[in-house]
Amino acid sequence: MQFFIDTANLGEIKEAYDLGVLDGVTTNPSLMAKEGISGADNVKAHYKAICNIVDNNVSAEVIATDFDGIIKEGRELAKIDDKIVVKVPMIKDGVKAIKKFSSDGIRTNCTLVFSAGQAILAAKAGASYLSPFIGRLDDISQDGLDLIAQVRHIYDNYGYETEVLAASIRHTMHLIKCAEIGADVATCPLKVIMDLLKHPLTDSGLEKFLADHKKANQ
Ligand code: E4P
Repeated sequence: MQFFIDTANLGEIKEAYDLGVLDGVTTNPSLMAKEGISGADNVKAHYKAICNIVDNNVSAEVIATDFDGIIKEGRELAKIDDKIVVKVPMIKDGVKAIKKFSSDGIRTNCTLVFSAGQAILAAKAGASYLSPFIGRLDDISQDGLDLIAQVRHIYDNYGYETEVLAASIRHTMHLIKCAEIGADVATCPLKVIMDLLKHPLTDSGLEKFLADHKKANQ
């Protein structure tokens, strides 16, 4: 399973990359705004800065919602760096644009996915990644993990090459369940990646090992 970090914060991206387990980054317009990044040139420079930290797979989201606008913006984003994956919303013109990007060899991440039907459309259009939002489904009392399992099953039935990128992950159990189901990628905040480290028996066990070592070496 690949780990992407879901942030536009350079410090957090560096921290996850330094841990040695990071395979990519996802951003969205809200995450960019949270970092105070605005204006086309600043946005592009920020994406470039992210690309300079990680080895591959930096999702950069288009703002346009019409076909021509998505294509124009997506091509500009793709020019920033070979590591860029153009993130396109699951809307009618988005699906058309994904098909066009796919024919042109530009990688895409279809975002804001909340149903299996949307997942089928994105795969048929040739999306490189599909981002079902688990946490936001949970927020409206639908089990987001059920969608990951449903999409995994459908994609396996037909051998679709689109990778299932579980998004809107809120805690470690989301991530672990996604791994059990067989999501190809999980994108999550730095906290969730770091929380995977934690176990009280690890802490107490290490404390005892170090205390015993100290006693024996006094
Ligand atoms: C994914 O690409 C999205 O940026 C993200 O996972 C959304 O997460 P949220 O629901 O926590 O905002």
